[in-house]
Amino acid sequence: MDLAPPCSWLQAFFFLALFWFLNCGYVHGATPAVKVGNFSKVEDAANFHIYYGQTFKVIKNSADGQSYLLLQNNSRIASRTKYCTSRIKSFVIPLSNYSVDTNYFPVSFLELLGLVESLKGISTNSVASPCVLKLYEGGQIEMFNSSDYQKLADFSSYFVSDNDQQPACNFATFAPYIEDTPLQRAEWIKFMGAFANVEARANQIYSAVKENYLCLAKIATTRTTFKPTVAWMKYTNGVWYFTKEKYQLKYVEDAGGEILGANKNTYNVSDSDDLEELHAILCTVEVVIDETITSYPTNYTLSTFIQNLNVEDRSCFSFISNTSLWRYDKRVQNSIALDWYNGAMPQPQLALADLIEVLFPTGNYTTTYFRNIAKGEVPINIGPEMCDRDTSAAMDPTTVACG
Ligand SMILES: *[C@@H]1O[C@H](CO)[C@@H](O)[C@H](O)[C@H]1NC(C)=O
Ligand SMILES: *[C@@H]1O[C@H](CO)[C@@H](O)[C@H](O)[C@H]1NC(C)=O
Ligand SMILES: *[C@@H]1O[C@H](CO)[C@@H](O)[C@H](O)[C@H]1NC(C)=O
Ligand SMILES: *[C@@H]1O[C@H](CO)[C@@H](O)[C@H](O)[C@H]1NC(C)=O
Ligand SMILES: *[C@@H]1O[C@H](CO)[C@@H](O)[C@H](O)[C@H]1NC(C)=O
Ligand SMILES: *[C@@H]1O[C@H](CO)[C@@H](O)[C@H](O)[C@H]1NC(C)=O
Ligand SMILES: *[C@@H]1O[C@H](CO)[C@@H](O)[C@H](O)[C@H]1NC(C)=O
Ligand SMILES: *[C@@H]1O[C@H](CO)[C@@H](O)[C@H](O)[C@H]1NC(C)=O
Repeated sequence: MDLAPPCSWLQAFFFLALFWFLNCGYVHGATPAVKVGNFSKVEDAANFHIYYGQTFKVIKNSADGQSYLLLQNNSRIASRTKYCTSRIKSFVIPLSNYSVDTNYFPVSFLELLGLVESLKGISTNSVASPCVLKLYEGGQIEMFNSSDYQKLADFSSYFVSDNDQQPACNFATFAPYIEDTPLQRAEWIKFMGAFANVEARANQIYSAVKENYLCLAKIATTRTTFKPTVAWMKYTNGVWYFTKEKYQLKYVEDAGGEILGANKNTYNVSDSDDLEELHAILCTVEVVIDETITSYPTNYTLSTFIQNLNVEDRSCFSFISNTSLWRYDKRVQNSIALDWYNGAMPQPQLALADLIEVLFPTGNYTTTYFRNIAKGEVPINIGPEMCDRDTSAAMDPTTVACG
């Protein structure tokens, strides 16, 4: 799980040469020693690495196959060196400003690091963060069209989370999504921290999150009670799919549940054999998480699920009779941006705590991301008025009571 991608000898040679070159530049330069401060060591994430020199850092990013050379702004090398090739890019750090492609970027990472006030641009105002919305409304963050490359060039860096766009020199790919486990995703906070010299904060948050997550998982998985069977399922164009997303399967395992082991993952509801098989297999499921995408989450209710399922006789569905039918769109902005893809990414302990409550209900824990549609729970709309903290300060992670 935490195997680093193999590094070819050519790459290794390249890095040795780079370190030699930069350190030489440093030794002979007149610049006084620049303290990098604290270091981040990547322990769990598999898709990025950080190396430290005296006046620079190198991030190797598997998401786009690039190496980012982060040059301290007060070093000589920062004024002399600029890279922008297909394999290596340089950035002068700490970034004085940056922008993000808000379609996918989980801004919650920035809030935990206390970096939200140097966020100066967003590509859409569909953002599941009250404080980013507030800064946008107050004019401190501007919105631009992500195909306006001239505009994008105004920022010290533009962070994107997918590779859909033709990259420019100041683009950096922030892709926690490509990791397989919730903790690996959360560790990408160290990636962002490196661009702002806030390694100490990034390390502190990740340690706190990981400790809390592992504590919750330990209690949940050592339960002696039965393990409920869980199905994550999604309906699109007449077909139901069971998820194969590894991080979701990992959440269920860590919450003490069992993933539904169906023979196949797709069921066409217009095909009577498929429907019969889906009906049968769902009779063995205790908890359903309905991930169906909808343009208006408030209107996605139990009856929508039943309509999509198209099964007449639901008497054997214990997840309905026992009211255990959930969606992760409890917190949503503008009907589009789910906080599940934002806040839960750097703080998986909150998502895990939710799932433990979903699997083993106590009635004594208020879920953050999950709502029970079998109980008629409706989404909460995220708006700027919900920002209740000083945006210049870092947001603290939430520790869930454990034990
Ligand atoms: C490094 O982190 C430790 C603990 O967070 C802190 O006490 C120390 O001042 C930091 N050092 C630097 C140079 O930032
Ligand atoms: C380097 O960054 C720090 C922190 O943002 C800033 O205070 C300082 O003025 C910058 N130095 C240079 C030479 O740009
Ligand atoms: C962004 O710019 C592109 C190209 O100029 C244009 O086709 C598109 O409609 C613009 N998008 C928005 C949301 O304005
Ligand atoms: C971002 O910082 C750079 C370098 O300091 C500056 O040239 C640029 O104007 C700033 N851009 C914005 C949008 O503030
Ligand atoms: C589902 O089955 C129906 C009837 O057999 C067929 O017309 C339709 O194309 C199928 N849909 C998909 C997505 O395969
Ligand atoms: C119904 O849910 C309760 C917890 O609320 C659980 O103990 C019980 O086993 C569930 N029954 C079925 C049939 O899934
Ligand atoms: C949501 O449901 C209400 C009540 O059924 C209906 O009036 C409204 O048009 C629906 N809204 C959307 C966007 O589908
Ligand atoms: C409910 O949670 C609170 C706070 O975590 C705890 O003090 C209390 O004992 C719990 N009550 C029950 C019935 O589990």
